[in-house]
Amino acid sequence: MPLITTIYCKGTGGSTTTALGLAAIAPPAWRPVVVECDPAGGDLMRQHRLSPAPSLVDLAAASRARHAADGIEVFTAVERQLRLRHHPVDLVVAPPSGAQTRAALGELTRPGNTTLTHAERLVVADCGRWDPDSPVRPLLAAANAVLVLTRSRTEELTHLREHLADLVDLVSGHLVVLLAPGGTYPPGEVADAIAGYVTGELAADPASLRIAGPLPADRRAAGILAGDLLPGRRWRRLPLLVSLSRLLEDLAPVLIGPVSAQVSDREVLR
Ligand SMILES: Nc1ncnc2c1ncn2[C@@H]1O[C@H](COP(=O)(O)OP(=O)(O)OP(=O)(O)O)[C@@H](O)[C@H]1O
Ligand SMILES: [Mg+2]
Repeated sequence: MPLITTIYCKGTGGSTTTALGLAAIAPPAWRPVVVECDPAGGDLMRQHRLSPAPSLVDLAAASRARHAADGIEVFTAVERQLRLRHHPVDLVVAPPSGAQTRAALGELTRPGNTTLTHAERLVVADCGRWDPDSPVRPLLAAANAVLVLTRSRTEELTHLREHLADLVDLVSGHLVVLLAPGGTYPPGEVADAIAGYVTGELAADPASLRIAGPLPADRRAAGILAGDLLPGRRWRRLPLLVSLSRLLEDLAPVLIGPVSAQVSDREVLR
């Protein structure tokens, strides 16, 4: 099964919310799991009042001991389950410490460690703020889809532009600029400007990247995903979750292949 990574460039945020929302809305048959890989340290443990262990540190230790390449399911012992009403969401949380998280990422991204890149399930890795020296580089390189959250405002598009050449080179899967809520420019205009930059300045194929969103500003859904609000009966119908569900539906062919995607699309839409 595939790997989706979420990142943002300076200014925007929304990486953890998006990663958790995608896993929460993904078809259960894909066995989605959110893995907090933010090199700055995790937030979900505190937000959802989870105990400190097990965490990403234990996933790294388990992967070292067993070699995920053997196909052994290393997540079982270290994942937690959140319940959004009655819906379980599996997650592996990072410790709040950035240093501990980066040490664990060093192991999980070591050549030959396929825990996150060839899991028997959909891994949604929250990789936090992007930096070209980030230890999550190998995850982005191996991901089926890399979502880069950006608000369509001059400052944030400037930061995105600074990283675009590197990202286009690095990402072999689907590179998606996911517009965050609260931008200034219309999505069509942003898409044209980015496509012009990719073809003109980077001399790259415009198909190497696409624009999605904008995601809706949805404080209720964001509050539920951040553990601040209790989900109501219709939480999956909240605008942010519907929007993430559509995004997942669009990505299904690159995640699980065109034939099975047709089946799973129906599950996504259910
Ligand atoms: N679509 C949205 N609508 C409204 N609020 C949102 C939305 N997405 C995220 N937020 C809120 O924005 C804030 C930052 O989001 P989030 O924690 O996901 O960012 P992050 O990229 O993980 O940041 P960090 O690098 O600090 O971990 C949170 O308070 C979150 O609830
Ligand atoms: Mg975060």
